[in-house]
Amino acid sequence: MDTKRDIASRQDITLFINEFYEIVRADQTIGFIFNDVIEMDWEHHIPLIVDFWETILLDNPVYKNNAMSSHFHVNSKVPLTKEHFDAWLNAFSSSIDNNFEGPVCEMAKKRAKSIAAIMHLKMEEATKRQNG
Ligand code: HEM
Repeated sequence: MDTKRDIASRQDITLFINEFYEIVRADQTIGFIFNDVIEMDWEHHIPLIVDFWETILLDNPVYKNNAMSSHFHVNSKVPLTKEHFDAWLNAFSSSIDNNFEGPVCEMAKKRAKSIAAIMHLKMEEATKRQNG
């Protein structure tokens, strides 16, 4: 039987985050943002996003940045819509469900959803301001 364990370490987070970006970069709706629009420094970005999730999921406060702020820059190049957030969330859930299961996984998906909802609102406000 295919029994999966729960996310329990930084190594586990690194595993699903790497898979997340494979899925995201191949995605028809948002792949272009990561491949073409933003010049991603992956060596810098992957450890940062792993820090972000380690802070939330393992209760280890290693992430010191503001996760919201860099998205205003992204949003100024591509106004982020519900379709973008849905694609992001689907990729996030798949990358977790393909590898792990358990309460920490459920928390990760729940937190991602609520942060995405807040981010979506803030981006919409910024787009309105931008368009006068
Ligand atoms: C449509 C949805 C999203 C898109 C297209 C997107 C895109 C990006 C891009 C392009 C960057 C890199 C920015 C740069 O380095 O210049 C980034 C950074 C980041 N994203 Fe997202 N993102 C999305 C949603 C989310 C959500 C929902 C979360 C959290 C649940 C999140 C968490 C982060 C974090 C933690 C960083 C690193 C910020 C830093 O400390 O520099 N993103 N995102």
